[in-house]
Amino acid sequence: MLLSGTVVADSATVIEDGAVVVDGTTVEAVGDRADLVERYTDHERRDYDVVAPGMVGSHIHSVQSLGRGIADDTELLDWLFDHILPMEGSMSAAEMRTAATLGYLELVESGTTTCIDHLSVAHAEEAFEAAGEVGIRALMGKVLMDKAAPDDLREDTDAALAESERLIQQYHGAFGDRVRYAVTPRFAVTCSEDCLRGARDLADEYDGVRIHTHASENRGEIETVEADTGMRNVHWLDEVGLTGEDVVLAHCVHTDESEREVLAETGTHVTHCPSSNMKLASGVAPVGDYLDRGINVALGNDGPPCNNTLDPFTEMRQASLLQKVDTLDSTALPARTVFEMATVNGAKAAGFEQVGALRPGWKADVVGLRTDTSRATPVHDVLSHLVFATHGDDVAFTMVDGDVLLDDGEVVGVDAEAVR
Ligand code: GUN
Ligand code: FE
Repeated sequence: MLLSGTVVADSATVIEDGAVVVDGTTVEAVGDRADLVERYTDHERRDYDVVAPGMVGSHIHSVQSLGRGIADDTELLDWLFDHILPMEGSMSAAEMRTAATLGYLELVESGTTTCIDHLSVAHAEEAFEAAGEVGIRALMGKVLMDKAAPDDLREDTDAALAESERLIQQYHGAFGDRVRYAVTPRFAVTCSEDCLRGARDLADEYDGVRIHTHASENRGEIETVEADTGMRNVHWLDEVGLTGEDVVLAHCVHTDESEREVLAETGTHVTHCPSSNMKLASGVAPVGDYLDRGINVALGNDGPPCNNTLDPFTEMRQASLLQKVDTLDSTALPARTVFEMATVNGAKAAGFEQVGALRPGWKADVVGLRTDTSRATPVHDVLSHLVFATHGDDVAFTMVDGDVLLDDGEVVGVDAEAVR
């Protein structure tokens, strides 16, 4: 297939009248449209206003898709323990399948081709199957909780880790290696020391398996962890082995100098979720400081209840605007940086190689947008347009590994109306 338009191959490469040629599962060529049209005459053609790499949503909760609008004016711990956990605990396997499918469809329809997904304690296989059916690329895992959680969600430590291992054996590398496993302790508040250390040991046993958890999102959460362990949250995670190049920490809103040093020294990935941090009144993450220290910061929507949208373009905009208003520095988080957070940085956090940019030989994870670029000022700054003037509804085409998942705004291969 040959996709033409203004090609944003990566944050530094914009081809005004460009094209991307896809052959099989990978990108064959990126370049000037006239030249590629002449060379690839037999390729099916699609024209868009903008062609870009698929976005990477580095922290989402697909299984919370049925809870949008729950407790809209609540802060994290009350929201979680009074509303979200009871909802997750009451969900049947069929509801989990529906919720996960709705989440993945929403992502694919708004331009996300890879996600890092935090599931629930039960029925994780429903979400794995849903990811396989929709065709999204995902790093995902069953949630671990073995303390201070509601009875119906609290599991025996060894049994929960054994179930995680069973899921690794069944799904890590499944669906043409589009789906990989992340051992997923929910957060230090609801996980014992044995559970956290067990998560590290389990991840170490399997090549490519990562660790995904929440950290230091909210002050009450940090106080709880400190009361339990006598340590700041990131120090505690470091102590039990949950830092490193295979660890993705969602949020990290409130960290002190020594915790930031640990994040930088260990190569731990941070996922920033600005909309959720605003809605739950969690705070403003020090994104600029993390980036200055060389910490890889990716971007996530978090769950539908604490965001209301899984649209990656809205999330990029929120990320930039929040840093600008917090620092009173208009250059705090420019479009180029936020686009990197939502693409290559996310792929790096998830551990997917050759994902997050359009380059020959890289995975054909591509989106096509119908968007009036004349709405952007200056009109030639396409990156700025993607961050400040684009919406997920502008996405007309989504491709993962060369498979078309969304065509002309319609989902391919899944009866989306039946799910809804
Ligand atoms: N921390 C632990 N669980 C959750 C969750 O489901 N959502 C958010 N935003 N933070 C959490
Ligand atoms: Fe979350």
